[in-house]
Amino acid sequence: MDNLDNAILRHVRFYYERIYRERQIPSVKVPAGVEFAVSLGYPEGFVYKVSKADINWEKVFPCGCPLKDISLSDGVLILNVGSGIGLDAFFAEWKAGLQGQCPVTINVDVVPEVLIEGNQLAERLNATGIFWVCANGAKLPFQDNVFDLILMNGVFNIFPNKNTILREVYRVLKNDGILCLADLFVSKSLPPYFLKEMDAWAWCMSGAMTPDSVMNTFKNCGFQDTRFSHLVWLDKEKLFARGVVYSRKSDSSTI
Ligand SMILES: C[S@@+](CC[C@H](N)C(=O)[O-])C[C@H]1O[C@@H](n2cnc3c(N)ncnc32)[C@H](O)[C@@H]1O
Repeated sequence: MDNLDNAILRHVRFYYERIYRERQIPSVKVPAGVEFAVSLGYPEGFVYKVSKADINWEKVFPCGCPLKDISLSDGVLILNVGSGIGLDAFFAEWKAGLQGQCPVTINVDVVPEVLIEGNQLAERLNATGIFWVCANGAKLPFQDNVFDLILMNGVFNIFPNKNTILREVYRVLKNDGILCLADLFVSKSLPPYFLKEMDAWAWCMSGAMTPDSVMNTFKNCGFQDTRFSHLVWLDKEKLFARGVVYSRKSDSSTI
């Protein structure tokens, strides 16, 4: 990893530490909150439930609702990389619970404070299948071929070296597992000055790729059948879009 990559990862971590630890307001006005979550596809019943348990919506920063189109079978093991407070873990439990299923989700984030807050929320919600691990997503403390489903919501773009993070999630994904990622995408490569905008790395902008380069990078890292869903352009010029990417480790994936 070169010096710039390390500097970016350090800056992003520091950025979220300040938000989660010191309740510092982000320098960029980013969408967050209840209405935003509903607009991304989180059902009102779920949003009502976590709101009643006093989730801090100011610490929830999804780019999409990656589990929206996924049905969860009993005992499915989920890894939520860059989980923050764990919104998608709570959603997985809520969604699967409607069908009497019981998933287990491990949330991984680099900032311990947000994991502690998520764990307190899990206790208030009586959510028993949710666990918390403080680690770097690019060096996951898990063995190979463990998870049925890996979620990355608003964190893929944070990593300057996409091959490193993709190879790492590929390693821990089961052979029949699925990667499901929500993030920002761009219609054309961003001008070079964006790469030096450290805060824009934290907000998933500087690291955003075009759909074509996403497809190629996923393929080069071994993923198959990569497809986009729920792509929504965010500006009149159609430079940035928000969307979800699904990809399989092999063609026997069943989720
Ligand atoms: C845009 S937020 C998304 C949070 C969460 N997925 C959500 O939907 O609310 C990005 C998250 O990635 C975490 N993060 C940053 N760098 C990371 C790294 N190297 N490994 C794991 N998580 C990281 C941040 O602490 C933050 O919680």
